[in-house]
Amino acid sequence: MNVDVAIIGGGPAGLLLARLLSQAGASVIVLERQSRDYVLSRIRAGVLEWGAVETLRQAGVGERMDREGYVHEGVSLAAANAAFRVDFMKACGQPVMVYGQTEVTRDLYEALDRSDGVVVVQQAEDVQPHDVETERPFVTYRKDGIEHRIDCQFVAGCDGFHGVCRQTIPKAMRTEYERVYPFGWLGVLSRTEPVSDELIYAQHERGFALASMRNANLSRYYIQVPADQKAESWSDNEFWDELRRRLPDEAAETLETGPSVEKSIAPLRSFVSEPMRYGRLFLAGDASHIVPPTGAKGLNLAVSDVRYLAEGLVSALKDDDERGIDIYSARALDRVWRAIHFSWWMTSMMHRFPDQTPFDRRLQEVELRRIRDSPAAQTLMAEIYTGLPYEGNFEHLDRSVASA
Ligand code: APR
Ligand code: PHB
Repeated sequence: MNVDVAIIGGGPAGLLLARLLSQAGASVIVLERQSRDYVLSRIRAGVLEWGAVETLRQAGVGERMDREGYVHEGVSLAAANAAFRVDFMKACGQPVMVYGQTEVTRDLYEALDRSDGVVVVQQAEDVQPHDVETERPFVTYRKDGIEHRIDCQFVAGCDGFHGVCRQTIPKAMRTEYERVYPFGWLGVLSRTEPVSDELIYAQHERGFALASMRNANLSRYYIQVPADQKAESWSDNEFWDELRRRLPDEAAETLETGPSVEKSIAPLRSFVSEPMRYGRLFLAGDASHIVPPTGAKGLNLAVSDVRYLAEGLVSALKDDDERGIDIYSARALDRVWRAIHFSWWMTSMMHRFPDQTPFDRRLQEVELRRIRDSPAAQTLMAEIYTGLPYEGNFEHLDRSVASA
């Protein structure tokens, strides 16, 4: 089989890329290791930057999001039982959309079922890119015991943090940056009414807590726990008691509890592998970078990578113009590092660190007060939380990232 682009990984990055490329008339194959049901059972974050909302609309997958998602015009930050609101509209003029990543993924799969020129293979085994440093790359995989070979012009590595694509780039050609945080998030999904109309990020001496939601009867809550804990060792009641302690009093008093529908622990990590291109292989999403969930940036970065990559690949395929793919890595990494910084900053400000001194605690407290009291600080936070604008045309970028 021969396609324009072979996409490895059928998470949000790979699926959105497939959709944008097929809209532009390119032929693509998506090779996903897991079944569709498995991919759609993964619970992930749920906050979309406004640029991501617009990108999904342009990709023709915004209809259900616009119907069922929730536009949030602000967020609460809390410390020592007192909360304050950051008004996004006042601070930077754009809101966010609360709509689960699982739903985004489902909408993308359904759109791809109706798209021309797209083949999606689930449960593809031993997927392997080859000869990506040449003009004639190809990808091999096995399905139901039969070996397949896909010849292509480009390979997109959208296979997440544990995928194969990043590993095929020779070690000497990449630089990795990493910070592992000494705690995780214990998350619970419950069929209960969300405690607040907007998200609450709570700093507390017992550790961070987050109140989020999926819809009017589905809540998503998280508490910071030591990195080595197991989700099974927390009963639902223990979770609710701990959450109540950490949320501001007003929220704690009205918190509706119920059986957990899902309970899991996610470790917190910041990671970047540079560059995001090796020959004709391009990395996008978690394959190239990981952020701790505190800034809600994981999915949003996957969307911005893919937007830049799709634009570059379409110009290369249609007009033989490789400028977009030549600057892809630098263009994407510029945004990645802003998000890496923001997520690190939010994480550092809101969590309890094991080796923290009273001095460090005071700094965290004053940092939150600074946001509470300064419209300028709120703008700084809101413009990144709700999403920086995407870069414009190639001419502008030729100047801004000329060195990369
Ligand atoms: N072959 C084929 N598919 C693979 C392979 C492989 N060797 N390895 C991994 N995959 C698949 C995974 O099964 C997964 O479905 O690649 C997909 C990668 O999807 P995600 O991990 O969701 O990553 P991405 O699409 O970049 O989305 C980023 O998802 O992980 C969250 O927090 C992250 O919100 C962010 C978003
Ligand atoms: C979520 O709803 O799962 C969520 C929201 C905001 C975050 C992280 C996770 O920062």
